[in-house]
Amino acid sequence: MIDGQRRIKERACSRLSARYLAALRAHLGRKDRVNGNGDSAQGLGRAVLAAGLAPLDLAVIHGRAVAAIAMSQDFTNGRKGWFNRKGFFLSQALIPLEAAHRATRETNRQLHEHNESLRRHTMLLTSGHRRLEREIARRKAREEDVRSAKERYRKLFLESQLMQKKLRQLTHQIISAQEEERKEISRELHDEVVQTLVGINVELAALGKGAAVGLETLKAKIARTQRLVEHSVNEVHRFARELRPAVLDDLGLIPALHAYSKSLAERKKLKIRMTAFGGVEALGSAKRTVLFRVAQEALTNVARHAHATQVRMSITEISGAIRMEISDNGKSFPVGKTLLAGNNKRLGLVGMRERVEMVGGHLTIKSAPGMGTTVCAEIPFTQEKARK
Ligand SMILES: Nc1ncnc2c1ncn2[C@@H]1O[C@H](COP(=O)(O)OP(=O)(O)O)[C@@H](O)[C@H]1O
Ligand SMILES: [Mg+2]
Repeated sequence: MIDGQRRIKERACSRLSARYLAALRAHLGRKDRVNGNGDSAQGLGRAVLAAGLAPLDLAVIHGRAVAAIAMSQDFTNGRKGWFNRKGFFLSQALIPLEAAHRATRETNRQLHEHNESLRRHTMLLTSGHRRLEREIARRKAREEDVRSAKERYRKLFLESQLMQKKLRQLTHQIISAQEEERKEISRELHDEVVQTLVGINVELAALGKGAAVGLETLKAKIARTQRLVEHSVNEVHRFARELRPAVLDDLGLIPALHAYSKSLAERKKLKIRMTAFGGVEALGSAKRTVLFRVAQEALTNVARHAHATQVRMSITEISGAIRMEISDNGKSFPVGKTLLAGNNKRLGLVGMRERVEMVGGHLTIKSAPGMGTTVCAEIPFTQEKARK
């Protein structure tokens, strides 16, 4: 207990002790020797309570008072029954304290109950709050998922729109390139074959009328007509080879490339050197056709655009793939810019890349001033037993 409080209590104790002694003495001194009504005893009890003292303090006050009375002369003899009566006095004094104690106990009990229900409520509230927090977190996560899914789909949608646009462009390019190719074939057929056939016809007509000419002249005319026929046959062969070389199906990729590069080298005064890994023939028909078309386009480009004198073509096996490289020593060109130009008529480079990627491969074109151009196609090498 704090010193100040203890002093106050002691002071109250000594003040009440004096009053208690006087009241007890008065109570015991009554002549009628009956237990009094105890009003003054209860009054003291209330005073003890008001002073903030406990029943034990009252017992101490009572003890002191009894001791004081017992030692005084007037109570030593002749006052029988005082022992019981002092007990009654104390019990009367204790009544207000006990009542207060009971009330305090009851209040405490109620307070305890109240606290208990408050604790239960708090617990319920806390767990409800936690549930709510968990639910909020779950919803937030779900909202985030929905938002990111939306964003993903939006991106995919935009990508697919872009691809659709590109596809449409490419289809357009293919159609116009096909048309160009047909025009070219028709023009070349007309220029090369039809003109020759017309020439043959003229020669034959002259022969029909030529009873008058001599044998030597006749022989010379027949020889010239035969050369024209041979030329036409060669031209038709060339067209057939360029459209779809039979040798590619019948003999394989390497003979087809040999035949094609030989004919191109002769026509365009180019030197084409070729080395090839024989195992390439184990590739399936689709992949061999892709390699043939890439070589055809790359070589045609060299002949058309590069002003080159030499071309090197090699087919090698690298880990899990076949690599075909075609390099020229001609003038270079800006590859990236040309590919991005999106020119409807220029489909050679784009077509090469599309074909190679269609069979799971990869095409690169490098071109630098003084170094010429190198086209490199790599396609996965999976041996196929039955060559289609
Ligand atoms: N080997 C090469 N050397 C120099 N320029 C080239 C070569 N290959 C392609 N090019 C350039 O790239 C352009 C596009 O080629 P391509 O797509 O095949 O179209 P095309 O052959 O019909 O012009 C050509 O017009 C040419 O300018
Ligand atoms: Mg081309």
